[in-house]
Amino acid sequence: MRVFLLLCLLALGNAKPYQSINVMDFMRNYDIMMADSSHEDEDEDNDVDDDDDDYDDNCPAGCQCSPRVVQCSDKGEISVPEKIPEDTVILDLQNNDITEIKENDFKGLHKLYGLFLINNKISKIHPKAFRNMDHLRLLYLSYNLLTEIPANLPPNVIELRFHENKISRIQKDAFKGLMKLHVLELGANPLANSGIGLGAFNGLSTLYIGISEAKLTAVPKDLPTSITELSLDYNKIAKVEIEDFIRYKNLRRLGLGFNQIKYVENGSFASIPSVRQINLDNNRLKKVPPNLNALRSLQVIYLHGNKISSVGVNDFCPVPPSGKKNLYTGISLFANPVKYWDIQPATFRCVTGRRGVQLGNFRK
Ligand SMILES: *[C@@H]1O[C@H](CO)[C@@H](O)[C@H](O)[C@H]1NC(C)=O
Repeated sequence: MRVFLLLCLLALGNAKPYQSINVMDFMRNYDIMMADSSHEDEDEDNDVDDDDDDYDDNCPAGCQCSPRVVQCSDKGEISVPEKIPEDTVILDLQNNDITEIKENDFKGLHKLYGLFLINNKISKIHPKAFRNMDHLRLLYLSYNLLTEIPANLPPNVIELRFHENKISRIQKDAFKGLMKLHVLELGANPLANSGIGLGAFNGLSTLYIGISEAKLTAVPKDLPTSITELSLDYNKIAKVEIEDFIRYKNLRRLGLGFNQIKYVENGSFASIPSVRQINLDNNRLKKVPPNLNALRSLQVIYLHGNKISSVGVNDFCPVPPSGKKNLYTGISLFANPVKYWDIQPATFRCVTGRRGVQLGNFRK
């Protein structure tokens, strides 16, 4: 169940550019989660709401309310509305003009599960703004003007999104104590490798980290060792080296598309033997990366939009084909200068499905 939810959340979160989120989708997740955990912590959260009838009367001016959900999106609000009911579980403030989160803006909202502040003009968050928010799991701050990671983030948050802010520095221990964080989205911020302080990700056991559309020139070496998915697309990474993934042994999906990679050192992927998908499309590779045929779990490899001029018969598949655990379902090689009629058909002997290989037309 957890994994399924995570996948749903990832799919929802990749929207770009800004699209509004239907917060009601999260209410369903909330109900499932509460049902899941009802044996573990039988606390006040499982109260049956018998006062749902008067939610209209308690609704802040200009907002729409339904049981435990307060929606104040697209209202041109310049600050967080007052008198939000204390039993609110989901608060939707996306697409307003809020510039600042003040100390008492969320005071008393101890039951909050999801807080959506996407697409505002927030540049300042008071260090006590999130106090006592022990139930908050989803905090979406994408499309704002933050220059740093806010202090004292809610301790049990599962998903944190800062896509498209102005964050250029992540200080040491920025996420300290966030033991449950699974998804950390930092894409589209002006983050260079030098802006990621040593120990910035201390204490995290995150599954997904996204730092696409940033200013990285190398794979960051100090990310949590737990990550299973890493998106570094649209950066300025020029090469991949053996030491890049040595700490990330659990990686399943690796996004390196739209970088400037010319060179992949032999053995770079040997430390991530469970990897299922690698995106290396739209780079400057002249050859298929070495030793892919040793990756037994690899199913999808995107290499389109490079400068690959020849493909060897053993570049993808192990020599005794039994050495492969999962067959490939996607190899893309179009938009490379390779003459595809020169590629021997046996090159793709460990690919399944009719659309498993995309060669396309040779384009100059
Ligand atoms: C890469 O390394 C592997 C294992 O050490 C070796 O078998 C292979 O021949 C190397 N490939 C290249 C292209 O050097």
